[in-house]
Formats: sequence, C-alpha cells, structure tokens
Amino acid sequence: MSIILSLLLLQAPYALPGEAAVDPYVADNRHAGAVPFTGDGMAKAFGGQDGIRRIVDRFVAINFADPVIGEIFANHDKVRLKRTLFEQFCFILNAGCTYSGRDMASAHKDLGVQKADMNRLVETLQRAMSEEGVSFQAQNRFLSKLAPMRHDVIEK
Ligand code: HEM
Repeated sequence: MSIILSLLLLQAPYALPGEAAVDPYVADNRHAGAVPFTGDGMAKAFGGQDGIRRIVDRFVAINFADPVIGEIFANHDKVRLKRTLFEQFCFILNAGCTYSGRDMASAHKDLGVQKADMNRLVETLQRAMSEEGVSFQAQNRFLSKLAPMRHDVIEK
C-alpha cells in the first residue's frame, strides 16, 4: 500500500514537461473551487472537451494580449495556465476531467488582482465562450459557478 502511495505521490502532476516548476502541493479536485454540474448538458453546451479546449486557448490568448489585465499575466506560465484552466473548466462542466492544479487562493496569491480585473476577466471569458457559440444561458450558468471564487482571487 505504501509503495502504491509513494508511486502516486511521485507522479503528482506539479508541472508537466514544457511547464515551469511550481512548489509541490497535493492535487485535489476540490481545488477547482466548485462542485461540478451533473449530467452532460453543460458539457454538450460547451462542445465537449474539444470545445472547452478551444475556449480556454482563446480565453488565455485574449487575457495575455489584453490592454487592461494583460500585464498581470505577463511572465506567467501560459502552457501551464492553458492546461490547468482546461482541467478546471472541464471538471466543473462535468466533461470528464480531473483537476490537478492549485487551489484558487494559492494560485492568485500576491498577483494583486482587483475587483475591476475580475470584471474584465469575466468579459474576456464571455467573448471566448460567445465565439465558440455557447448559449447565453449556459454561459451564465457556468459564470455562476466561478463567481464565488472571486473571494479567493481578489486581493484583500
Ligand atoms: C473565478 C475567476 C478565476 C478562475 C476560475 C481562475 C483560474 C485559474 C487557474 C486554474 C489557474 C492555474 C492554477 C495553477 O497553476 O495550478 C490560475 C492562475 C492564474 N490566474 Fe486565475 N483565475 C481566475 C481569476 C483571475 C483573474 C481575475 C486574474 C487576473 C486578472 C487571474 C490571473 C491569473 C494568473 C496571472 C495566473 C498564473 C499564476 C502563476 O503563474 O503562478 N486569474 N487561475
């Protein structure tokens, strides 16, 4: 049993090839910050894993290039962010993923995110979801899962 546990810990996905190193942590789906939807309705509304990946890639690209919040993302690991955000969205949308990233408070510690930055990020996410053809109803249902996380993201 302890050998299996050690192997699991050794394989803990702190950072995958191509990603910058991060301090070790114990992965847990609860770090995604929301209880997933049930059923496959939301996963379908987002176009399954392929649709979610396109939305996340676009969302990350918009954020890095954004004239308002882009500087908060500058010099952060875009490869890791795309992977962990995909896992988080896919997990919450019940599209068949587990989340291996950090919890929201740890991930955003010391970034200095303000309320206005959060509002801006919601706008860029709405843009990415609309471009993928996600209905407004499904967008709003998803955003309501993310909204409570602002307490862990915005700097007090
Ligand atoms: C509910 C809203 C948000 C969610 C769900 C979210 C989700 C995430 C996730 C999953 C990660 C990666 C965790 C990891 O690396 O293990 C992350 C990192 C990051 N987030 Fe957010 N985020 C949110 C809001 C924001 C806002 C408003 C900003 C800035 C405008 C922001 C900027 C960043 C940056 C720069 C990183 C990279 C941190 C690093 O490299 O250490 N996030 N976020």
